[in-house]
Amino acid sequence: MPLKTNALYYGGDYNPEQWDRQTIEQDIPLMREAGVNMATVNVFAWGELEADEGCWDEEAFSRLAERIDALGKAGISVDLATGTAAPPAWMAHKYPDSLPVDRQGVRLGFGSRQGYCLSSPEYRAGVVRLSREIATRFGSHEAVALFHINNEYGCHIHECFCECCAGEFRQWLQQKYGSIEELNHAWGCAFWSQRRRNFEQVEPPRATPTFHNPAHLADWRRFSNEQMLKLFRLEKEQLQARAPQIPITTNFMGYFPPVDYRQWAREVDVVSNDEYPDPADPAAIAEQAWSADMQRGYKGQPWLIMEQAPGVVQWRAANASKRPGQWALWSLSQIARGADGALCFQWRQSEAGAETWHGAMVPHYGTAGSHWKEMVDLGTKLANLSPVAGTQVQAEVAVMVDWESEIIRSTSIGPVPHSWMGQARVWHRSLFEAGITADVVGVDADLSQYRMVIVADLAAPDAILGKKLEEFVEGGGQLIGTTGTGRFTPEGKAALGGYLGVLSSLFGVNVEGTVYGVNAAETAVVAEGVNEHLGGSTPQGAPDGNPDPRVCRITAAVGAPAAARYVGIEPVDPALERAMDSLCEVRPALRGKTRADSIEVEDATPIAFFTDGIATDLNGKAAITRRKVGKGQAWYVGTDLDLAGRAGVLALVGAHARVRPVLPGAPAGVEAVKRGKVLFVLNHADKAAELSGMVGTDLLSATQLSGHVVVPPRSAIALWQ
Ligand code: GLA
Ligand code: ZN
Repeated sequence: MPLKTNALYYGGDYNPEQWDRQTIEQDIPLMREAGVNMATVNVFAWGELEADEGCWDEEAFSRLAERIDALGKAGISVDLATGTAAPPAWMAHKYPDSLPVDRQGVRLGFGSRQGYCLSSPEYRAGVVRLSREIATRFGSHEAVALFHINNEYGCHIHECFCECCAGEFRQWLQQKYGSIEELNHAWGCAFWSQRRRNFEQVEPPRATPTFHNPAHLADWRRFSNEQMLKLFRLEKEQLQARAPQIPITTNFMGYFPPVDYRQWAREVDVVSNDEYPDPADPAAIAEQAWSADMQRGYKGQPWLIMEQAPGVVQWRAANASKRPGQWALWSLSQIARGADGALCFQWRQSEAGAETWHGAMVPHYGTAGSHWKEMVDLGTKLANLSPVAGTQVQAEVAVMVDWESEIIRSTSIGPVPHSWMGQARVWHRSLFEAGITADVVGVDADLSQYRMVIVADLAAPDAILGKKLEEFVEGGGQLIGTTGTGRFTPEGKAALGGYLGVLSSLFGVNVEGTVYGVNAAETAVVAEGVNEHLGGSTPQGAPDGNPDPRVCRITAAVGAPAAARYVGIEPVDPALERAMDSLCEVRPALRGKTRADSIEVEDATPIAFFTDGIATDLNGKAAITRRKVGKGQAWYVGTDLDLAGRAGVLALVGAHARVRPVLPGAPAGVEAVKRGKVLFVLNHADKAAELSGMVGTDLLSATQLSGHVVVPPRSAIALWQ
């Protein structure tokens, strides 16, 4: 059941239960002024609607009904939330076991949100009751365009360590493994005396003296993801039974580790995503593009930005403001990448509660200031962009990611801390900087539309993926594979006999091992609760710091390549040298950042060798290789190249793939994306961008362009071609 898309959606979370009647009465006229055409209601209203178990507060329901009616009359579609994300006070008090328990065994208290155990029978009964009630009362209301189940599953609570969850975990394991001996074998329980004699002896991975068994942790992650999905399905059944004509969504959070969004995307009618890039980070726009390209990749269909901040957030340590124009610009960059709407959190800035200092469309100051003008301005722009609603973005490049691989890699203890999808993200970043549109796809993707595919640090490929990639290359595709790929078997054990595993023959190389710099630990963004043990290790390094060569006769003579801050590489292929030459005036060095693979070349041609730095002991061994396979080529990159290195390799491989930027020669700061017939040109720079050859209608300003255009700082054009 798709969402109607004759226009782009604009609006946000609307929480009238926080306000008095006088304030509420101003809302709809203001929404109309801003061009709002969708409001998300009832996200956190459970405590209003259900006064006690099974006791509906009819007054609260009639206020909700009145709001939905009023929105509908004003032509504003309703994204109706089931309201189950924050169970009410009575539930916590009547059923204390419905509250979640952390890994230390502490039962969390009431007074925040998402305070539920993922297996609680009382919480489950509650969500069934409330979602059924919502569907029964509003399932035939014309204004309701979309159901919004719960809110950001897992955001605060993505696992619970209580006895009830322990019981369900055991059942889940029993189903998965059949017998305890199978589990012992799969987890490698011969190690550290971990053999269990029956399933009763298996616990959730609660706080332990030191490292957990990684396979135990990985299964716990899979189980917790499925517990959340079970909750989602309970609500979905209620809604579908009563209002099958209304599409269903639940809002995702980018590439949040505890949830397998690719699996979840198959369960929703409409993908929706919450996006909070940090305005203090100049590369935030690249991160946002990565997330957008991922949302698009789930279903190969338009999706919705369900939340973003119209201004500041309040939950970072430092909350930078959006700069003038950035609200519209960042929204438009998501539209350009395939979003069919830009909604936000929230409509009216709260005057009380934990989110008082979080930005909103209507700020504390009211509608007299410049902020409101920006809100109205985006509404006008989105209305002008109606023709792009429902249209598709075409990409010739795919960056592949795999939740299973990430779970296996992130729960493993070493070889170095893992950054969630980190290598895939940085390669996507390089494509973004080069102006090349890419899809972020899963291992199940159909690769036939792509000319180039990047498989970066994909830890646990299986034979099916190996075959698919081989066919892709044989058919003429250019494949880039990088260090970290194939380190594990699909079951999560170490790959024996060479770390590229099933992909070794395709690249024509074998990986004997990897040397790491100590800086490998610095850049890792460790998934919360996944690698928690790594934080508390014994401090290393002498208190004296580096040896003073004048007086440290012995230690100053000891070399330590791992202390270097780079991986030295020398290109030996003229084409790669030319690619590096083409990047900027003075050719940058080809370098890796933190690691270098020891590669045995079997049936491939080295195009660069390691030299020094972290790779000192691999001096003279292949760093980057290529192998011709059928009509295509498989390139292996045995290090985590830095930005310049990736740009060089992309220039080279991209030329073989005949992949071109959307807008060749685009000025600094300009992002260009083509969606359907519309070329979006987004100027993120502080300087105006001058472009030529822009012929067509700019939908945003509704003017005809005939060639030369000046795009002011932090603004955009959308050229219908
Ligand atoms: C999340 C939630 C919202 C709100 C915002 C604030 O995305 O879904 O309810 O708390 O964060 O940024
Ligand atoms: Zn629990």
